[in-house]
Amino acid sequence: MHLLIKESMNAELINEVREAFIGHFEADPILIFSPGRINIIGEHTDYNDGFVFPAAIDKGIVAGIYRSNSVSCKAIALDLKSTFEFELNKLSPCEEGSWKNYLLGVVAEIQQRKKLIGNFNIVLKSNVPNGAGMSSSAALENSIVFGLNELFKLKMSKEEMIFISQKAEHNYVGVKCGIMDQYASMFGIKDHALLLDCRTIKSKPYKIDFKNYQLLLINTNVKHSLNDSEYNDRRSACEQVASLLKVKALRDVTISDLKTIKSKVTPLDYQKALYVIQENQRTIKAVEAIEKDDLETLGALIFQSHEGLSKQYKVSCEELDFLVEEAKKNNHVIGARMMGGGFGGCTINLIDNKEVENFIEHVSVNYLNKFGLKCSIYPIALSEGVHILN
Ligand code: GLA
Repeated sequence: MHLLIKESMNAELINEVREAFIGHFEADPILIFSPGRINIIGEHTDYNDGFVFPAAIDKGIVAGIYRSNSVSCKAIALDLKSTFEFELNKLSPCEEGSWKNYLLGVVAEIQQRKKLIGNFNIVLKSNVPNGAGMSSSAALENSIVFGLNELFKLKMSKEEMIFISQKAEHNYVGVKCGIMDQYASMFGIKDHALLLDCRTIKSKPYKIDFKNYQLLLINTNVKHSLNDSEYNDRRSACEQVASLLKVKALRDVTISDLKTIKSKVTPLDYQKALYVIQENQRTIKAVEAIEKDDLETLGALIFQSHEGLSKQYKVSCEELDFLVEEAKKNNHVIGARMMGGGFGGCTINLIDNKEVENFIEHVSVNYLNKFGLKCSIYPIALSEGVHILN
């Protein structure tokens, strides 16, 4: 039932983009679907060369793209009702926080690699909520790089494309993100999550049998400011600890190694580094639990992950903590945690199918009473990565 509704939602999205493109540019575009992602466990470990366990989902961005005969390029973001014209030889970042920077960043990174592209038009529409921790950014970047690769026959591999997406975010958006989001969105496999080693950029797919459980996302519908600078601060704190330990990344150390420099770092940074080491271990343990079909252990690790993100890594917020506490009070939710960069966005919950309706009702009322704000609920399915639709 849910799946049917969602498939038709994506079909609507595809039609809207196609019709808008034909309406504006009188050409039939190449259509791309680029999904958002969830992450089951392994948060803030990717830029520490560690392990993550994400999956592409059935929500994403549809991009329609085709050559332009005009002297400039035109991009239309249908959700934002925003149109933007730019020239390929005059690229620089525009105002902070604008969606245009993702586009300009991807185009600039492609050109930097001496790949030849011509003028193009692009129409975009998304059903991944922004700032929900479901990686609408990576979905956007990947849709553009994939579309341009196809349109101008650039012959880039998927791996090259995700690094372009990541660099666009570093250099044009200003977030020094890891590679998890772009990877999951590009390489996702239906019904699978990917155990990704962020050092080797190799992953192992796991088909997960959730039995009588399912994954449910609850969006706090808050996105606290400072989000991006806090993210970059966490990354540089980790890099500093790694350099004190004379290793490339925190991935390379154990808790005993970390203890040897305890007196040289602030207690706050010590806890952050400790969190990263522990989260890496949890990610491996989570995959072992899945191999044994042991969803209870997986759930317990997910709860522990939240505890670490909130108390040690300090990237949670009141609203996320509240939703996880609500989940803990319900015996049928066997794991819950914040997902993504933090400071707002979604929690991911592993919940008994039978309890879904009841839990949604309960949490929605309590959240509204506590914060005067509605939360949103999204059931999701693990889906295929970026692909062409026509
Ligand atoms: C954001 C980043 C990712 C990753 C997560 C936290 O989504 O884009 O690279 O670091 O936060 O796990």
